[in-house]
Amino acid sequence: MSVPLLDLRRQYAPLKAQCLAAMEEVADSQALILGPRTEAFEKAVAEYCGAPHAIGCSSGTDAQLVLLMALGVGPGDVVVTTPYTFFATAGCVVRLGATPVFVDIDPHTFNLDVRQLAELLNRTANVKAIIPVHLFGQCADMAAILDLGKTHGVPVLEDAAQALGARHPLGHAGALGQAGWFSFYPTKNLGAFGDAGMVVCHDDALAAKMRALRNHGMEPRYFHPLIGGNFRIDALQSAILHIKLPHLDSWSAGRRDRAAYYRREMERAGLLGHLTLPVESWPGGELQHIYNQFVVRTPRRDALRAHLTARGIGTEIYYPLPLHQQECFRYLGYKAGDFPESERAAQESLALPIFPELTEAEQAEVVAALAEFFTAA
Ligand SMILES: Cc1ncc(COP(=O)(O)O)c(C=O)c1O
Repeated sequence: MSVPLLDLRRQYAPLKAQCLAAMEEVADSQALILGPRTEAFEKAVAEYCGAPHAIGCSSGTDAQLVLLMALGVGPGDVVVTTPYTFFATAGCVVRLGATPVFVDIDPHTFNLDVRQLAELLNRTANVKAIIPVHLFGQCADMAAILDLGKTHGVPVLEDAAQALGARHPLGHAGALGQAGWFSFYPTKNLGAFGDAGMVVCHDDALAAKMRALRNHGMEPRYFHPLIGGNFRIDALQSAILHIKLPHLDSWSAGRRDRAAYYRREMERAGLLGHLTLPVESWPGGELQHIYNQFVVRTPRRDALRAHLTARGIGTEIYYPLPLHQQECFRYLGYKAGDFPESERAAQESLALPIFPELTEAEQAEVVAALAEFFTAA
């Protein structure tokens, strides 16, 4: 039996009639960009995560860009973040002429190491923002990070691209700091039928500025007090995402159930001495880790991946090269060894199949293939 890393068709099947009807409605209306469907979806996300404002954008990347533009991030500014994240987190900073400065991760959570963050903030000037990334669907240590932001007078902006729906003792991912953004890339827990994203924030003026910036800084029509871009979300994506949103919590719970199954069965198979399983940082809450990815670690990662691939089991490496070692960021002056935990995670981490429709038989197959690899060694 082959086991896909993700099979979106299984999510689509029960929603097909509803999605097609919504798509037909948008097509019939020919109101294709922004408009009432986007406004309704923005309101729903704002209510869902407890932020007063939500601004739909063309992708998670563009949501971040709009936010950084609205905050005036530019040349001479430093933005502090993790090197163990998707490229966009730092890419947007550089596109605006600012400089990303990295802090290593906590190896247990893959998220920003707050002790090192504190040290860096004490010795770094011109910090315009701190960007924690809630990697794989679990919040970074937001209480500590928000405290540091307050002490240094620096806004905390959450890259919640992978974490819409994740809870933290202080609230919802994305709504904990000054602002945050989500990606609706199809593989996310809430996925569009293409690219889409959203930024949420608490400040009225910031929200108004972002609404203008996502549409070429235009306010009113054909008058441009600001220079923005085309970062608008389509009505079709808004309509599809609005249909899916009410299912998000049960889908995330389904992912948690599958994570619990892996834990139980991997322990039963004697795998815990071979594999490091994801750690849950904020126990007690229901959806504190929503497992956008279930990422295990082993120094034998590449051989394990080859073994699983040969058994027809889908896996992925998030991420094989930390950002400070990327060719395009060489000018930043970092070198191998600067962020040892990120570099080690890049060598050791492997995402296993996880999605709400994954069957127990498929999970059993994954665990059996893992056991075969480690016990035959
Ligand atoms: C951590 C992180 N940040 C930013 C993004 C960018 O989102 P998008 O792909 O919607 O532009 C992603 C999505 O891939 C992500 O995983």
